[in-house]
Amino acid sequence: MSEKNSGQRDSFSTNFGAIAAIAGSAIGLGNIWRFPYVTGENGGGAFLFIYLIFIVSIGVPVMISEFIIGRSTQRNPYGAFRLLAPGKPWFLIGLMGVLAAFFILSFYTTVAGWTLEYFYQSVTGNLGGKGHDELTAMFSSFLDHPFRPYLWFLIFMGLTALIIISGVKNGIERYTKLLMPLLFILLLLLVIRSLTLKGAGEGLKFLFRPDFSKITPKVILEALGQGFFSLSIGMGTLITYGSYIRKKDNLTRIASYVVFSDTLVAVIAGVAIFPAVFALGGSAASGEGLMFVVLPEVLHKLPFGNIFSLLFFILLAVAAITSTISVLEVIVAFLVEEKNMPRKKATVIATVSVSILGLLTVASLGSLKDFTILGKNIFGILEYLTANIMLPLGGLFIVIFTGWFLSRAILKSEMTNNGEIKTRYLPVYLVLVRYLAPVAIACVFLYSLGILKFW
Ligand code: PFF
Repeated sequence: MSEKNSGQRDSFSTNFGAIAAIAGSAIGLGNIWRFPYVTGENGGGAFLFIYLIFIVSIGVPVMISEFIIGRSTQRNPYGAFRLLAPGKPWFLIGLMGVLAAFFILSFYTTVAGWTLEYFYQSVTGNLGGKGHDELTAMFSSFLDHPFRPYLWFLIFMGLTALIIISGVKNGIERYTKLLMPLLFILLLLLVIRSLTLKGAGEGLKFLFRPDFSKITPKVILEALGQGFFSLSIGMGTLITYGSYIRKKDNLTRIASYVVFSDTLVAVIAGVAIFPAVFALGGSAASGEGLMFVVLPEVLHKLPFGNIFSLLFFILLAVAAITSTISVLEVIVAFLVEEKNMPRKKATVIATVSVSILGLLTVASLGSLKDFTILGKNIFGILEYLTANIMLPLGGLFIVIFTGWFLSRAILKSEMTNNGEIKTRYLPVYLVLVRYLAPVAIACVFLYSLGILKFW
């Protein structure tokens, strides 16, 4: 992670540090909580298939484009577009990113709060010995509780703000290097436990055997949205982080590592969850509660289940916080660089305003759950609007910008580090950002609006 002091722009201290911070942003609840639940609601294998195609053909070029914009300008997204295209409206992409950051933090921190509640419940031993129905009831009564979900939300938001304020380089970087591999090992243990449950095979089939008849415009849009959300792209988070990457680091290589590890964690989370869903009698399409009703049961089927359970939920909270800090950083970097605010003041203002919307979001699953627009509560609206619309739209403009408007010299110099390194990916990248990615994103939009029909 980066530190910026007294106007001097700092950068990630090592290549590994950059990868760890960017992967830290990408890997989080999006992989372990959202990927399985969205896959479950959208038919399984066919969704995964489309998701993977989008990751490679759209995700990678958008990510590299964000790095190029950020590193070549050394600015937050808004400032970066102002610098690269003065007097033109491209800076609006940066503003949309700041707005998306507000929305994402509101619902993401809500779920991050749930991980703290489940950590707490593991500590008190309340999760052990419960079957599917009891865990489902427990989850919904937690959401209805008059203050617990609000409290956990505020605690998580506060922790995120504290990390952002108090220079994070030494803290976060050091701990995540140790803790994230630990979370990965724990996921692998869950995979083994889940796969050895009776009836697990059905879950694997669900995830890996695509049933193409299940593909609908909705499934395609959700796959695109999940790809953007999971990779943290489309809203300038990686423009901001890209601006902290050192000039000598290889952007293509960083992007490949990040995309590979992010996808691996998502698929592994799927393999941990779906076999258990089928074996233990749940439903793959049970929505945003899926992980919280399935995994406690699997965790408690391991020897020393309680210990694994509390370890899992606290590590998940750590994975979530490395993502929330990257989202809050988008707002803070904007306020600091564009509004000349001291970092501390910017963080406080951003945190307080996010918390107002966030508390409403928490309430939208409890006391305000009957308040819906187009069948969705506030939580659902913010999630849908950001993942499926704002991020892909941001991504569309970002690739159009780098593909058609940004000078070839800047692209080349960023991808080759001023001629220092060779990259065979440049011509492929150009085809992707100029043609394939923008056309694909536009088609998904038109298709899901019913304007375009393929069959
Ligand atoms: N990529 C994060 C995850 O999968 O958990 C969520 C996220 C972080 C989305 C940062 C967007 C973002 F800018």
